[in-house]
Amino acid sequence: MAIQYSKKVVRHFLNPKFFGKIEKPDGIGKEGNIQCGDIMTLYLKIDKKSDKIKEIKFETLGCAAAVASSDIICEMVKGRTVKQAQEIKFEEILKKLGVLPPIKIHCSVLATKALKKAIKNYQNKKRKTKQQKV
Ligand code: FES
Repeated sequence: MAIQYSKKVVRHFLNPKFFGKIEKPDGIGKEGNIQCGDIMTLYLKIDKKSDKIKEIKFETLGCAAAVASSDIICEMVKGRTVKQAQEIKFEEILKKLGVLPPIKIHCSVLATKALKKAIKNYQNKKRKTKQQKV
């Protein structure tokens, strides 16, 4: 039986706005799912003064739900502070995308994990830079 996706999922899958790579990102997060084999990488550029995400891109090797989740999470966090972005839950992605089939819910979880890793990577770099200045 074919999986039914919402129109919004199909739109983000076929025409993602944030697909691509950022050279020299401030933060990078890569997450995969061992069972389906899908891999997501998120790249962040952060405005150091405001701590806001000024640029975000993704590269996802995966299913339609994984690509749509990657694209929508980028749309959701662009312009938000790092702290606000950290609090995003996969349920919010589901709400934005419309319903995902139950076997595809982990695709949205993957997006939140990749984002958290990218933020962690940014925070670690920031901490190291501060330590070097001291
Ligand atoms: Fe695993 Fe979509 S099927 S991320």
